Amino acid sequence: MPPLSSNAPIGVFDSGIGGLSVLRALREELPHERFVYLADSAHTPYGEKGDAFVRERSLAIARHLVSEHAIKLLVVACNTATAAAVHLLRSNLPDIALVGVEPALKPAAHCSRTHHVGVLATRGTIASARFGELLSRNSEHTHFSVQACDGLAHAIEQSTLEPLPAAASLEKTRALCARYMGALGPFGTRDGEMDTLVLGCTHYVFAEPLLRELAGPDIRIIETGAAVARQARRLLQERALLTDPAAQPHGGDVGLYTTAAPSALQAAAQRWLYFPISRCATVSLP
Ligand code: DGL
Repeated sequence: MPPLSSNAPIGVFDSGIGGLSVLRALREELPHERFVYLADSAHTPYGEKGDAFVRERSLAIARHLVSEHAIKLLVVACNTATAAAVHLLRSNLPDIALVGVEPALKPAAHCSRTHHVGVLATRGTIASARFGELLSRNSEHTHFSVQACDGLAHAIEQSTLEPLPAAASLEKTRALCARYMGALGPFGTRDGEMDTLVLGCTHYVFAEPLLRELAGPDIRIIETGAAVARQARRLLQERALLTDPAAQPHGGDVGLYTTAAPSALQAAAQRWLYFPISRCATVSLP
C-alpha cells in the first residue's frame, strides 16, 4: 500500500443517514479535512440483520473506501457495525487508522446522580459481546436499563424523505420513541429514576427532540459524535496526517455516497448538515 497522504479524505460510513450525526461533529472538529461519507442505504437498517451480514457489508464498504478514495482514516459511524465488525476491519486493514462508535456508558455512569441510566440501541448492538463487556465494565456503581429499539432507525430514515410537519413517518418515530422510553421506566432526578439517557445508535440523535420531550428537561442525553471527532483528531495528529489548513482555506470538501437512490441521503443532508456538500451520488459495491 502506498504511504498515506495528509491530503487524503477521511472515510465515514453507516447503514444509512445516522452517521451524518457523526459527520456533523467530525466536520466541526476538523473543518479543513476532506470527508467521504458512505450510507449503505440499500441495506439499512443493520440493527435487526445479524452479525454475519453486518460484517460482510462493513468489510465491503471499508475496502471500497480504501481502494476508491485512498482514505487516511476510517470512522465507523454506526454502533451496530462497530459492535459486529470493528475487530475484523482492524485485522483486514491494518494500515488504516480506525475509530468506532460505541454507546457512551462510561460518561453516563460518571454523570448520573441517581446511578440509573437508560440506554437505547439496536438489537444487534445490545446482543453483541462487545456491548456485554462494556456493560459489565461500567455496572459497578450504576444500573443500566437497556432497550432494543426495533424499527426506530428505519422510521427515522423514512421520516427524512417526507415533508415536515405532517410526515407519517415522523408520527411513527414519535410512537416508537414513546413505546421504548415507556419500556425503560421512569425518568427523573429522584432516587431510582433514570436521570441520564444514552443514545446508542447514531440515527437516534435525529430523534433527540422527541426523546427530550419524553424524558423531560432535567435529563442528560448523551451521544458520542463529539467524542468520536476528538478521537479522530488525536489519531491523525499521532500519525502526522492532519491536513494543512492552508491547503483547504475554505474547508475541506465533503462527498456523500449511497448504495441506493440518493434522495434520502440528500434530504437528510439538507435537513441536518450545516456545510456545503460537493456531491451526492449512488455507488455500486460488490
Ligand atoms: N446507525 C446505526 C447504529 O448506530 C445503525 C442503525 C441500523 O441500521 O439499525 O447502530
